[in-house]
Amino acid sequence: KMGRTFIVGGNWKMNGDRKTIDEIIKFLKADDIPTDNEVVVGVPALYLDYVQQRKPKNVEVAAQNCYKADKGAFTGEISPSMLKDLGINWVILGHSERRKVFGESDELVAEKTALALEKGLKVILCLGETLEEREAGKTNEVVFRQIKAVVDKIKDWKNVVIAYEPVWAIGTGKTATPEQAQEVHDALRKWIAENIGKDVAETIRIQYGGSVTATNAKELAAQNDIDGFLVGGASLKPEFMDIISANK
Ligand code: G3P
Repeated sequence: KMGRTFIVGGNWKMNGDRKTIDEIIKFLKADDIPTDNEVVVGVPALYLDYVQQRKPKNVEVAAQNCYKADKGAFTGEISPSMLKDLGINWVILGHSERRKVFGESDELVAEKTALALEKGLKVILCLGETLEEREAGKTNEVVFRQIKAVVDKIKDWKNVVIAYEPVWAIGTGKTATPEQAQEVHDALRKWIAENIGKDVAETIRIQYGGSVTATNAKELAAQNDIDGFLVGGASLKPEFMDIISANK
C-alpha cells in the first residue's frame, strides 16, 4: 500500500438534521484522527454549508451527487461549480442507490465524473455488483463495465478514489469477507494496470463499502488492496472514529 493514504468516507445518505449533525460533528472533533489518514463526510446537499462551517479542519465534506451540466434549466439539480463555490472539494458519484433508485446509467455517471473533475472536484466513484450478478459469476464483468464507461471520458485519475460497494452488502449487515473484498479490489487494480496504466493502478485508492463496522474494519483494512472505506450507517455513530483509524 506504499504511498496510498488511507481514506475513509462517511456517507450519511438522506439522514440527519441540524441537531443530529451537531452530535456527529462533536464526535468527529472529540477523537484524534491519525494525521496521515484522510476523512471525508458525504452530506445531504441541503446541509453542505452547515457542515462546511462547523467541521473540524482535518475532515473534508463531500456532496452525495451533482449533475453533468454546470448550470441552466435543470430544476432540482446542483452543479460542480456550486459545490466549489461553497468550498466543497469532494463529490460521491455513481452510488448504487443513485444507479438503482434514480436510474443512473454507467454513461451518466461517467459524464458526471468528467465534469466534476474538470471543475476541480475530487470524486469518490462507486462501483459494485448486485447479489444476482455475483451469483451468476458476473462480479468482475460488472465492475469492469462500470469503470470502463469512465475510462472513455476522463484522462487524469489523480483526483479519483474508487469505492467498491457490493450492493448485497449495503445496509444489510452482510459484509463481504476480507477475502471476497480483496479479490475484487485486486481484480480492479489489475484491470486498471492493463487498461489505464501501471502508475494509476499503484496510486489509486480503492475503498470498500458495505456494512463496515468498528468490528470488521480492522481485518478488512489489513488486506493489501483495501485503502479505506465508504461507510453508511456506522458513519452516523461514534464508532465511525474507530473505522477511521482501522489501519492503525
Ligand atoms: O456508501 C456507503 C454505503 O452504501 C454502505 O452503507 O450502511 O452498509 O455501511 P452501509
